Amino acid sequence: MANRYAVILAAGQGTRMKSKLYKVLHPVLGRPMVQHVIEQLKTVKLDKMITIVGHGAEKVSEHIGNDSQMVLQEEQLGTGHAVLQAEDLLKDKDGTTIVVCGDTPLITGETYQALFAHHEQEDAMATVLTAKAPDPSGYGRVIRNDRNEVERIVEHKDAVGSELQVDEINTGTYCFDNKALFEALHHVSNDNVQGEYYLPDVIGILQSRNEKVSAFQTSDFEETLGINDRVALAQAEKTMKKRINEAHMRNGVTLIDPDHTYIGPDVVIEQDVLIHPGSVIKGETTIRTDAEIGPHTEIDNCYIGRASVIKQSVARESHIGNRVQVGPFSHIRPEASIGNEAKIGNFVEVKKSSLGDKSKVPHLSYIGDADVGNNVNIGCGTITVNYDGKNKYLTTIEDDAFIGCNSNLVAPVTVGKGSFVAAGSTITKDVPEDALSIARARQANKEGYASRIKNQKKD
Ligand code: UD1
Ligand code: CA
Repeated sequence: MANRYAVILAAGQGTRMKSKLYKVLHPVLGRPMVQHVIEQLKTVKLDKMITIVGHGAEKVSEHIGNDSQMVLQEEQLGTGHAVLQAEDLLKDKDGTTIVVCGDTPLITGETYQALFAHHEQEDAMATVLTAKAPDPSGYGRVIRNDRNEVERIVEHKDAVGSELQVDEINTGTYCFDNKALFEALHHVSNDNVQGEYYLPDVIGILQSRNEKVSAFQTSDFEETLGINDRVALAQAEKTMKKRINEAHMRNGVTLIDPDHTYIGPDVVIEQDVLIHPGSVIKGETTIRTDAEIGPHTEIDNCYIGRASVIKQSVARESHIGNRVQVGPFSHIRPEASIGNEAKIGNFVEVKKSSLGDKSKVPHLSYIGDADVGNNVNIGCGTITVNYDGKNKYLTTIEDDAFIGCNSNLVAPVTVGKGSFVAAGSTITKDVPEDALSIARARQANKEGYASRIKNQKKD
């Protein structure tokens, strides 16, 4: 097998997106589109990957990390000019170079692999990945000669007459003989409607020299969608969602309504998980077997243990054990750790706190910066008072404690093992083990007082 190189074009601003965010960073199911491209390319064996960056180079490079080398295209003079920026790194190499646009995030590793295989089998100088488009407008058209060979590619804006009727489009993905590519790029001019150096002109240049130019047509136009505006972005989101959801369903996950279930590409879900409509599951989330999520639940970067149930709630950057119940209407904020068989009921917020096994916070509570032991019961309306306007303090509640309803635990404070806090208490001092703490005003009943007031004559 010849050496294989990849060049990813990601320097454009993406004017048609009408956005502050650089085009290739717009996410599709939470992952920037250029990262989708890189992840798929990584499944093909490559000797070198180079990404051409320009607009927002710094931001784009943050998302590329160590997966690819980067080269700066200072001025965006067209896709041909973009590829030329990789010349210093590639020009002496023998082998095949695949060029891919950073705005075609749906093309799969299998398609890249098939394109390489076709190109190498045909022993071509260049092979363009094409597709038949139901509506080819906006795309470069593949013009074939009377022997049905690819003659050249004409951009939509430069196309005239019958060229505009051609429905076979250039997907923007090509394999080239590496040395032939860089040699031909020096012959590309910018004499066209957009005044740009077009990469697809290399196809025409090689063909006119009687070099072998081939086309590999995929039957899946949807996969080759180029994202130039937000309408296409929404289409990509839809296609990617369908692809990911179908893979989970084939793995044994039940999605009640896959059209209204949004699962990111890095989420891991075990079999027999049940997901209700309106669930958004993002980041590096893992959901273990028999869990039940939703409806209307957002989970970002969490571990959800076996057979846990999370309803109408939001959970972020947290660890939730096995057989835990959350919701409806709860908010698990970052750095929460919820033990096995614990319960977080309705209207409960938990932040940067750990809750031991079998502990319960059934209703209307705020648990922040707290270390809660096992088998603790926290009554309705309890608040860990963790913030004095400047600093945050820790509340510790030891195993088997019982916190009565509507209590304030003013941190830093510890409630000892097995102790009771009476309802309505404001606890400002540590409660020892096995104690009952009452911290509220004593009740006074004034007999007959109510009717006395009611019967007072008005002046
Ligand atoms: C390009 C192709 C078109 C094809 C379509 C497929 C050209 C001239 N046209 O058109 O034939 O049908 O893709 O989606 O190649 N870029 C740079 N530097 C530049 C210009 C662009 O890095 O100077 C990058 C962009 O960031 C983008 C990619 O190249 O990721 C494609 O550029 P874009 O302007 O979107 O090209 P299209 O008009 O879609
Ligand atoms: Ca494009």
